[in-house]
Amino acid sequence: MTPIDEAVALLRAGELIGLPTETVYGLAADAENPSAVRKIFSLKGRPADHPVIIHLADSARLVDWATDISDQAWQLAAAFWPGPMTLVLPKQPWVDGAITGGQQTVAIRVPRHPVAQQILVRFGGAVVAPSANRFGHVSPTQAQHVRDEFGADLPLVVEGGDCEVGLESTIINLVGSPELLRPGSIGLEQIEVLLAKPVSYSNRMGQRAPGLLDKHYSPVTPAWLVASTEIEGKSLAMRDDGKRVGLLTLRSYVDAAEVVELLSEDPGEYGRHLYSALRRLDAANLDLILIEKPPEAPRWLAVNDRINRATQLPD
Ligand code: TXA
Ligand code: MG
Repeated sequence: MTPIDEAVALLRAGELIGLPTETVYGLAADAENPSAVRKIFSLKGRPADHPVIIHLADSARLVDWATDISDQAWQLAAAFWPGPMTLVLPKQPWVDGAITGGQQTVAIRVPRHPVAQQILVRFGGAVVAPSANRFGHVSPTQAQHVRDEFGADLPLVVEGGDCEVGLESTIINLVGSPELLRPGSIGLEQIEVLLAKPVSYSNRMGQRAPGLLDKHYSPVTPAWLVASTEIEGKSLAMRDDGKRVGLLTLRSYVDAAEVVELLSEDPGEYGRHLYSALRRLDAANLDLILIEKPPEAPRWLAVNDRINRATQLPD
């Protein structure tokens, strides 16, 4: 049996698999099998009101899951599917409330990773797949990351190499006027150009007001976001206090910490390597991770969103 055959057999048997996609690895189950869908929530430790994304082989199947599909939705689908984009649309009445977190909308995407495509085509149905990490933890961008998260609790992780995008899909809500819910590699401007209209983005979840801080995409080690001008001094001061410090930087501060992960000054390249760098830092037995604040430019929106969630404000 090839890994693809095995993956399809497990999905049909109501089991979970680790599924490579171009964004991050997913924890996949048959979307039409409620007990398989429940397994995702229990294995991830995910709250029941947190909806999951349905993955389809192609956009022709959109009508099976969503209704009131606007011209805008079809335009976006034609432009970006298969690819790293998720659309939120009104759900068909039969879509299991466990998938939608009890909401009347459903999130759908058509991934372009060749392995995800082969599995979806051979399976013939739809799979729900949140990122394959324990709830609140860093998303996996390599098969090994998924094994590190779930070990023997997950019967199969299909090898698909390093994820090409490395950050979760761009999510666009098309119920009402278009709204960006989660920035990703497909940028706000690209969407606005395509739709020829403004798309709102409130970044509600990125706000740091008390109670709203969304501890997502987080390493276990405390992580602080620090300005370029301060990171070296801060790191040296923490080391003087006897702390083991790791840095995630856009430049090199080689002598300033126990471990230095240097990422690219190109946001796409940075995003591709962010999660694996965070995982390496998290595994280095550090007291603190300092992340150099990337530029605020629109091209950095997705990276900044993930970094803001992964960090806390320095005290
Ligand atoms: O790139 C991705 O989207 C990856 C890969 C595996 O496809 N999946 C992923 O899933 O990131 P997850 O479960 O980690 O994140 C799904 C996000 C959540 O923030 C959830 O709130 C949102 O999608 N979502 C799902 N259904 C929704 C809905 N009906 N309305 C609004 N947001 C929804
Ligand atoms: Mg996730």
